[in-house]
Amino acid sequence: MIDSPRGSGHELLDESLQGAPIVVPSQPTHTRKLYLESYGCQMNFSDSEIVVSILDAAGFATTRDETEADLILLNTCAIRENAEQRVRGRLRQFKSAKAERPHLVVGVLGCMAERLKESLLEQEKLVDLVVGPDAYRDLPNLVEQVNGGQKAVNVLLSREETYAEISPVRLDTNGVTAFISIMRGCDNMCSFCVVPFTRGRERSRDPGSIVREAHELFEAGYREVTLLGQNVDSYKWNLDIKGQVKDPDQPVVRFAELMELVAQVNPELRIRFSTSHPKDMTDDVLHVMAKYENLCKYVHLPVQSGNTEVLKRMNRGYTREWYLDRMAAIRRIMPECAISTDVMTGFCGETEEEHADTLSLMESVRYEMAYMFKYSERPRTLAERKFENDIPEEVKSRRLKEIMDLQRIHGTARTLAQKGRVYRVLIEGTSKKRDDQYFGRNTFNNVVVFPKGDAQTGTYVNVQTHECTAATLIGEMTEAKADA
Ligand code: 5AD
Ligand code: SF4
Repeated sequence: MIDSPRGSGHELLDESLQGAPIVVPSQPTHTRKLYLESYGCQMNFSDSEIVVSILDAAGFATTRDETEADLILLNTCAIRENAEQRVRGRLRQFKSAKAERPHLVVGVLGCMAERLKESLLEQEKLVDLVVGPDAYRDLPNLVEQVNGGQKAVNVLLSREETYAEISPVRLDTNGVTAFISIMRGCDNMCSFCVVPFTRGRERSRDPGSIVREAHELFEAGYREVTLLGQNVDSYKWNLDIKGQVKDPDQPVVRFAELMELVAQVNPELRIRFSTSHPKDMTDDVLHVMAKYENLCKYVHLPVQSGNTEVLKRMNRGYTREWYLDRMAAIRRIMPECAISTDVMTGFCGETEEEHADTLSLMESVRYEMAYMFKYSERPRTLAERKFENDIPEEVKSRRLKEIMDLQRIHGTARTLAQKGRVYRVLIEGTSKKRDDQYFGRNTFNNVVVFPKGDAQTGTYVNVQTHECTAATLIGEMTEAKADA
């Protein structure tokens, strides 16, 4: 279990979960063993739950021990070069394991599978199986094909696949919080981003199946769901790309309506979502957030850069002023709402002045939390074809350090400002550092740690906070009314 801040779509999960094996209790009928590691964003972890569900039906049990596996799968990320390097290192280890256990099947799933396709099989000869994010239903057949002595690949992208009716097998779960994938793919074509190439066109999942999944999770004791998509603000059901109604007898559901439907599942079920896009985030989503207490007051809104010219080169579809207007809208509609972001340094042609604009934007927003990256050029993207990756590595690193240092100051100040209040906290589990303490989160996604008393995981308690570290509030349970 982790008790560090958890981001909410396409940002990274906590480092401690990256690559950790995934297990579910095995059944006697399941004779073959699957060892699965996931890398990258929350969407990948959510996809792994679909993969396990599909392979469970084909008779695979999961194992934490790679040495006893018949099938090893890595669900991979291609967003930055270093994410791919990590996976390649791991694949080389498995290649030597294969030399000793020839029956072992090793496969790559996810974004690297889509990006590298046959080259992983043919040129690099690292794996037997390559399966892209829209082809997981084909996994049992493909595994059989490999067992029959052939290599197998399916990297077809789909315009329809949402895995809507597949019940994910919840993996390494705390039984309290879960992800629900509401859409797949991305149509945005930000110039730096490989995702539109690896995950294909945007498509939204049937709202009925989303609400059903939320109900089932609630009935099973879960108390928080995170709605996942690359760009949740452009969720749409029963509308075509031009915005025309497809079936006049069916309701039209956009993200604001979907949030409302999920919020009504039960007031005791908390809802988070990720990731929003500044160009698409409308006031009606913010009004719905303000209307329902169980919609958590936390927005992750990646800015990438604080300079309009850089944003133009990034093809982000908004200006600095537009972004700041969205910040103002959040603050106007929800006086109290935590805001986090993604920032990138050293994008093609970024000048010192443009970088300074990112720092000044951060200064004016004062984010609770930020994921910060150096730009990494990705093959096939618009930026790779159109611009030179011309910022020297040491300049990228220095700029990254500057934004990280600034964010550290803001994050710590934000936590300090939250100290002293009483929060309604959903208990997620035992604190990593102290066995006699629980950790949970308040609506703003702050981690709160407190003595266990006789409270139970998966319930809400009020916690009076009186101390804090840089990112964690410390307190004790109270009968007092919560401020937030
Ligand atoms: N280089 C560095 N960071 C990237 N991101 C996306 N593509 C790249 C890239 N080529 C970052 C963005 C995005 C987050 C998920 O990853 O900040 O919001
Ligand atoms: Fe990539 Fe932009 Fe789509 Fe996010 S919105 S997945 S950054 S193309």
